[in-house]
Amino acid sequence: MKKYLLAICTVGACLSAMAQQKSPVKTYIIKADSIKAHVQPTMYGIFFEDINMAADGGLYAELVKNRSFEFFPSLMGWTEIKKGGGEGSVEVIDRSKERPENSHFVTLSVKSNSGSYGLANEGFRGIGVEKDETYNFSVIARQHAESKIELYVELVDANGTILGQADLKPISKDWEKYNVQFKSNATVQKAHLNVYAKNVGAIDLDMISLFPEHTWKNRPGGLRADLVQKLADMKPGFLRFPGGCIVEGRDLGTRYQWKKTIGNIDKRENLINRWNTEFKHRPTPDYYQSFGLGFMEYFQLAEDIGAEPLPILNCGMACQFNTGQVVPLDQLDPYVQDALDLIEFANGGTDTKWGNLRAQLGHPAPFNLKMMGIGNEQWGDNYIPRWKIFVKAIKDKYPYMKLVSSLGPDPDGEKFNFLNNTFRGLNTDILDEHYYRSPQWFLDNSKRYDNYDRKGPKIFAGEYAAQSVGIASPDNKNNWQCALSEAAFMTGLERNADVVSMASYAPLFAHVDGWQWTPDEIWFDNLRSYGTPNYYVQELYSLYKGTDVVPLKLNNQAVSGQNGVYASAVTDSKTHELIIKFINSGKIVQSAGFVIKGRKIKSTATLITLHSDDLAAVNSLDKPTSISPTQRTIQLSGNKINLTVKPYSMNVIRVKLSN
Ligand code: AHR
Repeated sequence: MKKYLLAICTVGACLSAMAQQKSPVKTYIIKADSIKAHVQPTMYGIFFEDINMAADGGLYAELVKNRSFEFFPSLMGWTEIKKGGGEGSVEVIDRSKERPENSHFVTLSVKSNSGSYGLANEGFRGIGVEKDETYNFSVIARQHAESKIELYVELVDANGTILGQADLKPISKDWEKYNVQFKSNATVQKAHLNVYAKNVGAIDLDMISLFPEHTWKNRPGGLRADLVQKLADMKPGFLRFPGGCIVEGRDLGTRYQWKKTIGNIDKRENLINRWNTEFKHRPTPDYYQSFGLGFMEYFQLAEDIGAEPLPILNCGMACQFNTGQVVPLDQLDPYVQDALDLIEFANGGTDTKWGNLRAQLGHPAPFNLKMMGIGNEQWGDNYIPRWKIFVKAIKDKYPYMKLVSSLGPDPDGEKFNFLNNTFRGLNTDILDEHYYRSPQWFLDNSKRYDNYDRKGPKIFAGEYAAQSVGIASPDNKNNWQCALSEAAFMTGLERNADVVSMASYAPLFAHVDGWQWTPDEIWFDNLRSYGTPNYYVQELYSLYKGTDVVPLKLNNQAVSGQNGVYASAVTDSKTHELIIKFINSGKIVQSAGFVIKGRKIKSTATLITLHSDDLAAVNSLDKPTSISPTQRTIQLSGNKINLTVKPYSMNVIRVKLSN
């Protein structure tokens, strides 16, 4: 919040200076002592999926693309380089029999004693380099007999200017890891890495890696600090991982298998990313998963940012938008076992097989996993029998585990109704609803949960985002109109917090040069990142979620679209506040009078506003906070708050309660 602009003014002085049409004063009644529901601590969270280069090339701070030569073709991202008359050759060696999980390495043969020969790596759309940052280079290498190859590595800009360099003398004839550090003397968005060898001979190389020293919490081989910070700033209630369709795979062979994503990074089997060629208009053939960001890192990330972990597991079905392959029911055991083992990995004592592995990986304390998802975005007849097998096995052994079940890709229609009716009949714990819809849909559906069964399953609004053009259209924008409509819709989530226990915008991240799907909550390039207006909406709801929902009414009705206004209210028993969310989605200034009943309020309040006059406005790397919250103190008298509310604005009013 420190970034928000601060100003002190009286209510009168806060009146919009704009000579715009103004509504007559409307009186909103808030019964601050009448608790209607408790807001779950998990209420607003994060949906993470490795789409749009969110992991490799994004959150995972590795700067070398295809570090272990597992892409197809094996040298994708690498080019041969020569300097000072150097000569040589490169061979890709396939050792799949010996190391099926890391089948390839390269042999560099140097054929001339003058100059040097090697390979350059282009990084993920270039390598972002910061002035004075220290870079940790590492490689697993093996000298051939009689060879005394020396390596030197350098970061260079597009003109070939050297930004930093280091020498390395691998001596062992057996595979060994070597590390060296160097600093960069300049900031460059798209540098590349040269790895040169000199002296005639041959050397085997694998896992060629470069990380900045300053990662999140300075963990070696860790995560990009600026991106994690954006997540931490939201104080999210949960972290859903690893997706999304990536859980399912385009076929079952390319599904996400958590056990292959833990332990030594050179033993984590790389996999083609299922978003690689999903969209013909946005092909990304160099998009793979190294799993450097694997399940251990996801659990650690959740713990770091204070979010409940929410892993989603494949339920024996591949993505139904692709092959829709299913595992025969009598062959589902390994999938179910993965789920049971994951719970033991997260929660088991160090005397258990998987709990012990967690301890060996550096985290003896349990992660306290309380919920998990069975299937991502499944639908149809095949889902139910598989789901039942999972649920029985998990609940028999871990009755406390809350299970999330998919209601398919749409918020209504045949697929949705079938699963909704079926799962409600089966007393499932949490239903995962997805809505990628127009801004108008979001405005029209803010009452969606008002009449949901209060005794039925909880709702996880697991993936949603207003689409300015159409679902996953490459022309979709993270504009203010979309964010405002989401803010309006979310008053309905808040008002119905007894039914809705979790919600997350999706997708989370996108690299400006490497995305497949838009809109996305946070955009980044190799060095910078920005939160979209949608991000700030999510952040405001999450930071000011309160603990208890109290009624806010206009003419005894919930405020969900009358005169373009959407509003809800909560109290916070920890901060002793009343928090009002007031969204003016219309172009008319709203004169609002809030009458607070049942509790006394103090004489000042904080008004946080997110606003733009232009519904098409967006944030960008160059103007990252064009639309971002501003904050003011307002003076109050009595138990009333009078506000003049700007058109096209989201407002959060925080008032201290005095009794
Ligand atoms: O968020 C992008 C995709 O949308 C997710 O992977 C999938 O679950 C949904 O269809």
